Amino acid sequence: MDRHIQTLLNRLSFISITLATLTLIFHLYQIPQSCNPPQIRPKSTLPRSSCDASHRQFLSIDHKNKRIWSTNDWAKKVRSFTHFFNGVSDLGLLSNNSKALCVSAGAGHEVAALRDMGLADVTGVELVESPPLVSRADPHNLPFFDGVFDFVFTAHFAEALFPSRFAAEMERVVRVGGACVVVVEECGGEGVEGVKGSFGRSGFVDVRNVSLIGLKMTRIIMRNDGSQTA
Ligand SMILES: *[C@@H]1O[C@H](CO)[C@@H](O)[C@H](O)[C@H]1NC(C)=O
Ligand SMILES: *[C@@H]1O[C@H](CO)[C@@H](O)[C@H](O)[C@H]1NC(C)=O
Repeated sequence: MDRHIQTLLNRLSFISITLATLTLIFHLYQIPQSCNPPQIRPKSTLPRSSCDASHRQFLSIDHKNKRIWSTNDWAKKVRSFTHFFNGVSDLGLLSNNSKALCVSAGAGHEVAALRDMGLADVTGVELVESPPLVSRADPHNLPFFDGVFDFVFTAHFAEALFPSRFAAEMERVVRVGGACVVVVEECGGEGVEGVKGSFGRSGFVDVRNVSLIGLKMTRIIMRNDGSQTA
């Protein structure tokens, strides 16, 4: 008996779902007819227009990127970053297998450079996203687990609102043996010591004056040597 009632209820709900669906379809038929020229078949209008909308969105991002990525300025900056990263790669701190993170990556020149070099796993984050190269995240509160990256880079440490917090987050997400690489405006002893001091959990590897995107910069490399915990 119970089963019969169950079956009956199932049927009733099936019927009401069907009715609701039919009603919906009926309405879909109505809307396009009222706002579209009659030669467009109503049945395909709604799905098509929603597809069109997302398609358009992709197209505009795509278009925008194509425009940006085809400029000389973009290519020049990416090449400069590639040159810079090749220098880091020469120290054995970066390879095609490295899982890399670029913090405060702006429009994503450094992300593009690392990908061009052959790295398969590169993530860029910035307060304002620039898809598809850079996603949105707060450098002071990175949305990643501890120790998941082999290589973490930033060219915008100097602009950090809270430098020690910014540094601590970079150190947190890099694995033991992995590197944190920072470039700041060219500086000598005191500036370098300031950066090293912010990365209190890392061992110092190297400092060098470099040229990056036409600017004189100082590259400071630190490594999570696993010896210090905070
Ligand atoms: C890294 O990848 C690039 C492009 O895929 C390739 O040309 C290069 O030889 C690779 N480097 C190494 C060390 O495997
Ligand atoms: C980098 O340049 C600054 C001068 O702008 C100098 O004081 C410093 O010693 C240089 N650093 C290195 C590692 O050559």
